This record gives sequence, C-alpha cells and structure tokens, in this order.
Amino acid sequence: MFDLLIANGQVVTPTQVLAADVAIEGERIAGVFQPGTPLEARRTIDARGRYVVPGGIDAHVHFDMEFMGKSKHTFESGTIAAAFGGTTTVIDFTLDLSLQGLPPLEQFERRRRQAEGRAVVDFGFHSVISDGSDETLGQLEQLVAAGVPSFKMFTVYREAGLYVNDATLYSVMRRLREVGGIPVVHTENADIVDSCTARLLAQGRRSPADYPESRPVVAEAECIRRVMFLAKSAGVPVYIVHIAAAEAVEAVRRARAEGQPVFGETCPHYLLLTEALYRRPDGYTFIMSPPLRTEADNAALWEGLAGGWLSTVSSDDNSIDVEDKRAGLESFTRASPGCVDVETRLPLLFSAGVRAGRISLQRMVEVAATNPARIFGLYPRKGVIAPGSDADLVLIDPERRQTLSVDSLHMQVHYSPYEGWEQVGLPVVTISRGTVLVEDGAFVGPAGHGRFLERRIDLSTLRQPF
Ligand code: URP
Ligand code: ZN
Ligand code: ZN
Repeated sequence: MFDLLIANGQVVTPTQVLAADVAIEGERIAGVFQPGTPLEARRTIDARGRYVVPGGIDAHVHFDMEFMGKSKHTFESGTIAAAFGGTTTVIDFTLDLSLQGLPPLEQFERRRRQAEGRAVVDFGFHSVISDGSDETLGQLEQLVAAGVPSFKMFTVYREAGLYVNDATLYSVMRRLREVGGIPVVHTENADIVDSCTARLLAQGRRSPADYPESRPVVAEAECIRRVMFLAKSAGVPVYIVHIAAAEAVEAVRRARAEGQPVFGETCPHYLLLTEALYRRPDGYTFIMSPPLRTEADNAALWEGLAGGWLSTVSSDDNSIDVEDKRAGLESFTRASPGCVDVETRLPLLFSAGVRAGRISLQRMVEVAATNPARIFGLYPRKGVIAPGSDADLVLIDPERRQTLSVDSLHMQVHYSPYEGWEQVGLPVVTISRGTVLVEDGAFVGPAGHGRFLERRIDLSTLRQPF
C-alpha cells in the first residue's frame, strides 16, 4: 500500500516522456510503473492529460533580504509563491546588508534561522563572500561541511560593500578547489559600470530610459571572460548568474566547447523582455542588473538554452516594493534593483519555451530542475523522477489558460513584468516530499514544511560541462 499514487500522467524522466504511474511512499518516490500495473495507495491523484515533472529548483532567489531596499517576500510568502509556480526547492543567499561585517559562517547561521520554520519548500543557501581575508578563507571549509558548498561573489556593487577584486576572486576559487566548492559569480565590470554611470549622471541623464547605457554589454562580456579565465586557472568549475547578453552566451559557448566546466544561468526576464520597457512610464519597475537588453539577445539566450550551452534558468526573484522602485524616476541609481519571477519562472518556460517550440519539454526539465540539482549538490535526491528520489513532483496542465496579473499571482508587490500576458500551460498540483502543497488553485500544505538542505558537491562530477 503506497501513500500516494500519481496515476495516468505523462511522466518526464531523464530519458523519455512516458505514460506511467508514480508511486510514493513517505517522502520518497517508490517506483515508476507502467499504467495498468495493479497498485494500491491511500490516495490517488489522476494526472490524465497532464505532464508529471520533477519539482522545479530555483537556484537564485532573494527572500527577506535587505539590499538597497527590502525584499517584500518573507521566506514564507516567497516559498508559497514558488510552490504555486511549480518550484519545490529554492537556493537563496546569505546576502543581507544588515549582516555585513559578520563572518560568513555566522551570516549563514542567521539566514538559516530566518528561513527555518517559515519556508514551505526545501531550501539551501549560497554563502556570499565579500572579502579575501584569512578569516573568510578559513571558514570556507566549515561552510562546505555545513552543507553550503557554493559561494557567491559580486564583481560590482562597490557602494554596497559587495565588490570583490580579482585577487579575492582568484584566492577564493583556489581554496574552493581544495575544499570542494563552486564559485557563483555576478559578472559585470565595475569600472565600466561606475564610469558609464558617472558620465550619464554628469550629463543629467538619470531616467530609467538612460539606465541600460550605464551597464553596457561590454561590461558583462569582458567580466564573464575574465572570471572564466580565473576559474580555469584555479582549476574549479564556475557558475555565472543571470546572463543577459548574446556576447556573454557566446563566451560561455566557446569556453564549454574547449571543455571548460562553465555553467551559465539566465532568467525568464532576460529571455522575454527588452530594454524598450525602460521607456514606459513604469520603466523603473524593470531596473535590475544587468539590464534588459534587445530581441537579438533574447534570441541568443533561447538558442543557448536549446543548444545546451546555457545550463539553468533561475528567477533572481527580488520583490522590491513599488515605492522603492519608483525612486528610480528621480535617478536610476536610486531604484532598488531586481525582478519578480519566482512564481512565473516555470509557467513562462513552459508557455513561451515548450509550447512556443523554442525548447523541448525535457530540456525545460533539465534547465529548471535537473541541472541545478546536479550543479549544486542535490542530485539525484532532487531534480529527477526516479525510485529513491524525493517525491517532489509537479503536474502541469498543458491546456490550462491564465492571464498573468498581480491579482492572480502571489508576489507581495503590486506590479508584474508580465501583467496581462496570456499563459497556456500551468502547474496545477505541486508536491514536496510526498506532501501536496498546491492543488485546485489553493495552497494546502503545512506551514513551515520546508527543510534546510545540506548540499554536497563532488567536484569530479563537474569536470566536464553538461
Ligand atoms: O538586479 C538584480 N539582479 N538584483 C538582485 C541582486 C543581484 O545582483 O542578483
Ligand atoms: Zn546579481
Ligand atoms: Zn540575484
């Protein structure tokens, strides 16, 4: 007698999409069976006409964060929104400016306590490293042992005290090779960004429409090459967050073609939106770094996903209050950067990606679940439908229509980059470790269901790009 049976669905496994029944015992998948196999379960969910995919893994979210403005999502509301969008695991950061100055281990412990008992889906953290002191380097091993084997560094944000120079990047990377961790890098050239910004401000050009010029493609393209070079020299794999520019995609493609283990992430907003939006009256709501770019960049990102040289799609969700965003009307430097996408990530990938014929269903599962699990030390516990894996499952109704709107989403902010967009195909049931979280358009899961995930990365599995 199983606890739960997901019957008659089209199940997406690593090798095929097949009609199958998924049986769940406790928190784990017990087996994937041919339809018609006599199985008994305490509860059966009929998945006829639906795809059954592994729960989404969003490797880049910012909840409950103080960073040039406060994110509105708490760990509770952010993970509820994630669950509505078919995401059952999130990886946040130890980033919070109120914790700055504390040793990284202490920052991690505080962030973990913030999330524990509040998050409704499983969660982990990337440790943010903002200096190369002996104390910081000395704690990397302890963080890895504590289940935090990924380390975020920013090559920009000098004013916020997050910027690291090349010496720090390189010494952290070398240490990560020894202790078994992966660098996760925001790649924009700070000197170029700062000087472009200063020039625009001196010219009195400070409106949201001027914003993209403050962070030109060259800043992204130069920095990604430099960071990949440093990672190659240090002998570590590297994960590059929120790639926005075609030139950066091409740099990743070339490095991977030479065998370098570089894993590139993009986000729904970079795939689907363009810089024309900065000229709208609400252009300030789109201020994020890097900025939105052009349709040609959108196309290159889709090509990178379909072709296999971009590895993941994350949301980079940072739900900034509209008032904090509106400060960007006076000067783009005053708007808190970030976009809201944790709930829309998987639906948009399905609708604009799979249904629109840009990527296959299996590729969607790879970039939204399997690859983040493999890169960040969660595979095969997460990211795959297989016996023994956590029963994190999402049922997608490929015909379900929805108009995206702040009224129907669960975002805690009163703007959506996709307001009024028509969606076809939606997650309709979300299950985390065998517990149904979302069903019939309602959150039905227990409070605080999410658990901290102790992640372990075996660097030998990341020697080759995938
Ligand atoms: O603009 C962005 N991306 N905001 C969030 C912070 C970051 O750089 O990831
Ligand atoms: Zn960033
Ligand atoms: Zn971010």
